[in-house]
Amino acid sequence: MMAGRIAVVGAGTMGCGIAQAALGTGYEVTLIVHSEKGVNEARERIATGFEKAIAKGAMTSEKKEECMKRLKISWDIKDVNGAEIIIEAVPEEPNTKKDVLSSIGRSAGQNAIIATNTSSISIAALSPSVGNPGRFLGMHFFNPVPVMKLVELVRGKETSDAAMDIAKAFASGMGKVAVEVKDSPGFVSNRILMVFINEAITALEEGISGREAIDTIAKLGFNHPMGPLELADYIGLDVCRDIMESIYEQTGDAKFKPAKLLVDMVGMGNLGRKSGKGFYEYKPR
Ligand code: CAA
Repeated sequence: MMAGRIAVVGAGTMGCGIAQAALGTGYEVTLIVHSEKGVNEARERIATGFEKAIAKGAMTSEKKEECMKRLKISWDIKDVNGAEIIIEAVPEEPNTKKDVLSSIGRSAGQNAIIATNTSSISIAALSPSVGNPGRFLGMHFFNPVPVMKLVELVRGKETSDAAMDIAKAFASGMGKVAVEVKDSPGFVSNRILMVFINEAITALEEGISGREAIDTIAKLGFNHPMGPLELADYIGLDVCRDIMESIYEQTGDAKFKPAKLLVDMVGMGNLGRKSGKGFYEYKPR
């Protein structure tokens, strides 16, 4: 199966997840890592993702080997050249994203479309860095990418219809549902989710109920797979705080101001699953 070539820039949770999902669909994937040291780590991370899919019966070992052969990992951003779709998935820091997007814009082939996986920064703020804003849009994936069905497609003011169509076809080819939204801080997903998580943290802070009780209410009352506190730990408390601060800065709306407890926990280094402690305790990974 040959579906074409894409590139993903950034090999964190989201970048590796996007790479895994695209490999599973038949794409050649070039994954750009930060430095030579990151190559093995990224390869292992993606292999572990495939192992999880195998453990669930969603994939065979033969298919995994075939997918891994289509993965090229490089630390030279110029290697995005030749990809039809390039997805930026570096940390949610505006200047870092702008720098990376301008390098991508310089290296990409003329017809490539460029997408950012930003979860909160407006496309308008990032668009000037790319060079040709017509081919630029937001493709917001959800963690764990190989499992989550949604891609929030963010149309910037200058995004062309052709770029939107290519991104839609790419998402649906991966078995995902692409939902188009306008460019706005936090888009639709995070302006809903972050207020929900923040309110749960505030309820905990005010002693309205305990952590398990709050999460049980969302799990049994709303059929959510995880409660809001468990989900915040899963996303990363630092990531939640950063998204909220970013939306708050862009809108000035107090409903997006991160709860004091969240800010304090991040300050103490309690970042959720990745640090071993958040609202719950976790075994080191
Ligand atoms: N490829 C890779 N990993 C896979 C996989 C596959 N095909 N299938 C399953 N997995 C992973 C799961 O993610 C899970 O990983 P962890 O060990 O890290 O938890 C593990 O394999 C076990 O999978 P199960 O399906 O057996 O586990 P589960 O039934 O407990 O489901 C879950 C896990 C899918 C994470 C589920 O709890 C869930 O859907 N939670 C909600 C997730 C969510 O809301 N995500 C969105 C977060 S917001 C976001 O991402 C955007 C943002 O901007 C903040």
